[in-house]
Amino acid sequence: MKTIALMTSGNDAPGMNSAIRAVTRSAIYNGLRVKAVRRGYKGLIDGEIVEFQTQNVSNIIQQGGTILKSSPSKDFFSEEGRRKAYENLQREEVDALVVIGGDGTIHGARIFAQEYDLPCIAIPATIDNNLCGTDTTIGYDTALNTIMQCVDKIRDTASSHERLFFVEVLGDDAGFLALNGAIASGCEEAIIPNKDSSTDELLHSVLAGFRKTKSSSIVLVAASEEHGGAMKYADLVKKTHPNLDVRISILGHLQRGGHPTAHDRIIASRMGSAAIEALKKGLRNVMIGIDNDEIVYVPFSRAVKENRRIDHDLFDILHDVAI
Ligand code: F6P
Repeated sequence: MKTIALMTSGNDAPGMNSAIRAVTRSAIYNGLRVKAVRRGYKGLIDGEIVEFQTQNVSNIIQQGGTILKSSPSKDFFSEEGRRKAYENLQREEVDALVVIGGDGTIHGARIFAQEYDLPCIAIPATIDNNLCGTDTTIGYDTALNTIMQCVDKIRDTASSHERLFFVEVLGDDAGFLALNGAIASGCEEAIIPNKDSSTDELLHSVLAGFRKTKSSSIVLVAASEEHGGAMKYADLVKKTHPNLDVRISILGHLQRGGHPTAHDRIIASRMGSAAIEALKKGLRNVMIGIDNDEIVYVPFSRAVKENRRIDHDLFDILHDVAI
């Protein structure tokens, strides 16, 4: 093996740049050439490929986003698109592909690896933390910290005005950001997809808190097409409890940006270096994971078999400490 290609794909996540740096430098340290692909699978099809040296990844460990850019590509999900991508990789004399991204990225790598004889390694990076086989994904810790910092600020004004806030967070259907964000921020309740509960039940702790000593309440709501978002819950509560002073805050894409935390930089560095180690060992078509603080190699089929969801037992902790 002489040359690897490296790309980020799908939705960006803080820490992707730390992983780009780690893969590039570990590869060069091990005598490999690095071909960087811009704009994800789209760039792979369009042949947007440039050689990277160590200085191309200088001063990026702390930057959010991805210096390689990312973009959706419907074409990669066609045989014709993947054929063009493979031809471009052959032209660049690439012997293995390292992809950094979430479930859609790994799904794409899995199909590609089934069709073409090219070793692929994936590095999990998504704020949603929804991949099986790894305790955590790059970007999740940063997004969680961003939510915590925002909710701490919202708490100041909520307490001053004795208000009930519904704060909407990202995280897809997995629920990690909403539930763990709620625990980390001392919220009264969290609403996540795939968990049935009536508005009355949801508001039980909120109202009980107000009746006792609390001067504010904050509910984190995971944005979801399935159950609607913060707006829907705020409207329901305004109708049933007109005495409550209700407000909404939608955190949106600010959760995807910003400097990665130390934790995300460290796991990105470990996973990036492990991707090169995996290729040296002759592994292919695996996602790098961290399980119990050990690097593990997760077959693509397992990583994307189904989206990982948060353990609902954590609601007990949320409720116990929110009394
Ligand atoms: O996968 C990351 C994520 O931010 C999800 O939490 C969210 O559902 C989705 O991407 C939003 O995607 P877009 O940037 O296309 O709005």
